[in-house]
Amino acid sequence: MNFPSTTSANVPILLGSLTFMQETVSTKIYLYQRSHLHEHNNKAPSIDTSFESMPVRGNHLEKWRVLRTIGEGAQGRCKLVERKSDGELAVRKQVDWYTKINSSPLEAIILNDVLPPSRRVVKLITFWFTPSPRNDDYLIELFEYCRGGDLEHAVTQYGRLSEDFIWHCFIQIAEALDVVHNAGSQLVVHRDVKPDNIFLEQKYRHAAPWPNLKLGDFGAATLKPHTEAMLMRCWQGPELPHHSTAGDIWGLGAIIHWMGHRRPPITPRPARFSQKEWESQPAARRPTLLPKSYSLELNDCMMECLRWDPRDRISSHELVKRLKRDRHGKRR
Ligand SMILES: Nc1ncnc2c1ncn2[C@@H]1O[C@H](COP(=O)(O)OP(=O)(O)O)[C@@H](O)[C@H]1O
Ligand SMILES: [Mg+2]
Repeated sequence: MNFPSTTSANVPILLGSLTFMQETVSTKIYLYQRSHLHEHNNKAPSIDTSFESMPVRGNHLEKWRVLRTIGEGAQGRCKLVERKSDGELAVRKQVDWYTKINSSPLEAIILNDVLPPSRRVVKLITFWFTPSPRNDDYLIELFEYCRGGDLEHAVTQYGRLSEDFIWHCFIQIAEALDVVHNAGSQLVVHRDVKPDNIFLEQKYRHAAPWPNLKLGDFGAATLKPHTEAMLMRCWQGPELPHHSTAGDIWGLGAIIHWMGHRRPPITPRPARFSQKEWESQPAARRPTLLPKSYSLELNDCMMECLRWDPRDRISSHELVKRLKRDRHGKRR
């Protein structure tokens, strides 16, 4: 998918299922040098190096009515919005300072241009820039709305989660990581795999059929295969602050651990540490087997993701194959 065209005013752009009328091009047009992308990636670049137009700086906001803020702890940045013309729902994310983590609006670039469309990855409908009181412009992104919210909030009020639901989540998140790691024009590392960044297409009802899941929040994603980052420590592997695709796999193992135990694989904090300090210690990580009511296969697959040495961890591609094979041959 290419960036929306900025050359003609008032041209409808078809992105996903929604049609947008582009703003009159009266304001500055952003030109973005795509070769800039290559700074982010040690892998051979596969995106062309020509100039690409970024969306016009403008204001699509007037076409959308804000219904409410969604997402706890999101600092009010994600709003559920409704298109005035036809009631279509979407999520509007305002990134106040998109250069904070990456030097470019990388979340939008990755979703719009690097990754192929996939049912396992949240769909970016469009994005644009709008002036902020500070030096940087705001990056405004419009996403498809996943009606079931995020995984953390969807299952919080329920007790034991069924083994079948955990397999379902395990496979679908592994598929998402396989897309992110292997299907793009460049390798992408998500770096923030955790329950509140997994979105449910439909509402969770504690019984099958299970909702489809999508990986969202690429705000910390990178095109560099190896980086150092302290993000949400309790979902990061013992190699922290180092992060790679294997770190994303640890995050998935930690989600499965959390689904079975209701806590990530972090042991209780000794009194001499603050929680933050403790979660930064590799030694705080101690994955434990799931309660006995869950199968050995589920445990084995989870432990493949939680191997101490990132070099020993299973890849997302192998994991998808293994999960599909093992789901139905369960031993107790
Ligand atoms: N497309 C979406 N559909 C449903 N809920 C969403 C969507 N995008 C974001 N949210 C909600 O908003 C929260 C914050 O969004 P996210 O993209 O994770 O940004 P950040 O964590 O950087 O604030 C998510 O955890 C989720 O609860
Ligand atoms: Mg998030």
